[in-house]
Amino acid sequence: MDANDTNEPVTAGQGIAALLASAGPLLFFTTNPGLEGVVEREWMMRAEVVGCGVKRVVKKPFGYGGQILVEGAGDRAALEEIALSMRSVHHVQVPVHGFVLPAGDELGRIGRELEELALEPMEAAGRFRVTTRRTGEHAFSSMDVQRVAGAALVRRYGCAVDLQCFDANVRVDIYEQVCLVGWQLTERALSKRFHRVFQPRAALKAPVAYGLLQWARLAPDAAGSLLDPFCGSGTILIEAAQVYPGLELHGCDKDDRAVQGARANAEAEGVGGRLELRRADARGLSSLYAAGRFRAIITNPPYGIRFGQHLNFARFYRDILRECWTVLADEGIMVVVVFKRKVFYRALMQSGLFKMLEERVVETGDVYPGVYVLEKIAAAQPAIE
Ligand SMILES: C[S@@+](CC[C@H](N)C(=O)[O-])C[C@H]1O[C@@H](n2cnc3c(N)ncnc32)[C@H](O)[C@@H]1O
Repeated sequence: MDANDTNEPVTAGQGIAALLASAGPLLFFTTNPGLEGVVEREWMMRAEVVGCGVKRVVKKPFGYGGQILVEGAGDRAALEEIALSMRSVHHVQVPVHGFVLPAGDELGRIGRELEELALEPMEAAGRFRVTTRRTGEHAFSSMDVQRVAGAALVRRYGCAVDLQCFDANVRVDIYEQVCLVGWQLTERALSKRFHRVFQPRAALKAPVAYGLLQWARLAPDAAGSLLDPFCGSGTILIEAAQVYPGLELHGCDKDDRAVQGARANAEAEGVGGRLELRRADARGLSSLYAAGRFRAIITNPPYGIRFGQHLNFARFYRDILRECWTVLADEGIMVVVVFKRKVFYRALMQSGLFKMLEERVVETGDVYPGVYVLEKIAAAQPAIE
């Protein structure tokens, strides 16, 4: 599936027409760069459950991470309903039109195209807004695009612009020399699904937590225990509670505010009773939990940016790997998000405790940590300290 990453990105010419030429409804998803394959799998799985076909999935259609275009077969309303239930995405758009911007007359072309284009949600809209994402070097700004497109839509539909309170959110996005027009189905990002009482800056986005759970290869009916030893605000555990009804969920954090906050967040989501949380240092996991207790450990330890600036990371990772190995069941899976990739990789290789199944990179809040999917080697011997 990841072979789709090698698609020629559409930046100009005929590419945009071919990309949008479709027999079935098209949808455009945004997510964290690095999660495109997770979105593809979730989409295929959800479409299959409701009996809708999937004709095409194009990851990074414009060459940028975090974007996926899908073409479905079946009822558009049903496909949109599935799209709005996706856990791995931030926003869902309906792309309808694309064209190449002529050098020197980019804004003029945008105005003319928008004035001629029929946009379904605009037919009934009293108020609308235009949203633009612009990537590439241009002599005009995103605000210029919004102003020109907005004026064209006012001329065509005679309704008012309202940036806060709108019935239709028209997308006019610019990718290098290509303009993509459509509308946004999501009002609020689907990733903002948790009612967070406690929101530290280092908290993961919910779609990343969903991706980590998928990479742990847990089946929807998975049973057994899962641990997040650096649980922070509890994002991974709360996502797990909502996706995996059969898992027993445990977390710890050495900061009492995080433990209290994770508890409050879980309660606000109605899953407080599913989580067993404690304040503890993850470097001592083997004194907290029985050996072989967990079938999976999914976690993101401090990156050394906001937390752990003074840590000796070589030693820290070595300790964590040893402790996690001890409390994992034979062939248990560990999925760990680490910012200091080289140091981690060295500690991993030196430990000899895990087989590396996958290594990925995911954008989380403008940093690009590695995600390592590891399997416990039951026969390994941890080094004696
Ligand atoms: C990157 S944050 C985790 C964020 C979490 N995934 C979330 O979504 O909120 C790292 C967490 O590790 C905790 N931490 C740092 N050192 C620790 C240690 N030795 N043992 C346990 N927790 C630790 C910090 O208090 C912080 O809450």
